Amino acid sequence: MNISVIGAGAMGSLFGCRLAEAGETVTLLDIRRDHVDAVNAGGLTIEKEGVRRTVHVQATTGVDTVGPADLSIVFVKSTHTAAAAQTAARLAGATGLVLTLQNGMGNAEALAHALTADRVIAGTTSHGATFLKPGAIRHAGEGETIIGPWSTAGMPGAERVAEVLCRAGITTRVAPDVRRLLWAKLLINVGINAVTALTGISNGQLLELEQTRQISREAVAEAMAVARTQGITIDGDPVEKVFQVAAATGRNRSSMGQDVDNGRPTEISAINGFIVRMAETAGVPVPVNRTLAALVETLQAHY
Ligand code: PAF
Repeated sequence: MNISVIGAGAMGSLFGCRLAEAGETVTLLDIRRDHVDAVNAGGLTIEKEGVRRTVHVQATTGVDTVGPADLSIVFVKSTHTAAAAQTAARLAGATGLVLTLQNGMGNAEALAHALTADRVIAGTTSHGATFLKPGAIRHAGEGETIIGPWSTAGMPGAERVAEVLCRAGITTRVAPDVRRLLWAKLLINVGINAVTALTGISNGQLLELEQTRQISREAVAEAMAVARTQGITIDGDPVEKVFQVAAATGRNRSSMGQDVDNGRPTEISAINGFIVRMAETAGVPVPVNRTLAALVETLQAHY
């Protein structure tokens, strides 16, 4: 399969390398020239539990140099999805599919707008990866990937994409209700990302103090109230789930935390900001999400 990875940060590089190792024809597309040059010069080094391996995979900064893709996997930050959607549409031609495994809400909609809903697959992944330096990443943890067709009419391509990912050692299953899946992941990001980004703590440290646990609990409860207005029900206790993920990824800094540490724009608008916008339409009070969003926006305005 010809596969393009749009946004080859830590996660995009990881997925691209696994697929290349499994024999797929992969191109990594990224805006960071130093990363692309390092990958083309010496391959991409993946460090996992102290063991390093180098994978040779093609990388480029120029979409014009990439041929048509049977599958494009979008991993850019949600702030760049609109541009990535144009790239994905160009690479997909008349038949290619596009898969988004990004954080936050609004990504699948943007891709469906640029292509059509029946060419879009959305999903979540709980693999953990960190960008170390150009040409090198750390694979911090294995996890499950769940995907599903964005079109409510379904799509056989999702099963095929799951098979390709599984063959590459990326354990993947297809879920029937991908919107519910994205909401479940959103609740986790609502509960962890802004709190860790604002306080400078690791995901695990969020659990150490009642103060941070309480902010997280309230943010998730507000987001759940908004989800219910959209007809979304979540199995189990979402706060419990947030705390489990924080414990499981305890030593990691959340992606938003890493963005703040590196002075990069965050995905606040697609996470707590998304909850605030939905709440306004639904008439649900969300003071904690509003405050978290305003504080992160303030922080990034003063980098
Ligand atoms: O955004 C992130 O960092 C991750 O989605 C998660 C699950 C919060 C773990 O750090």
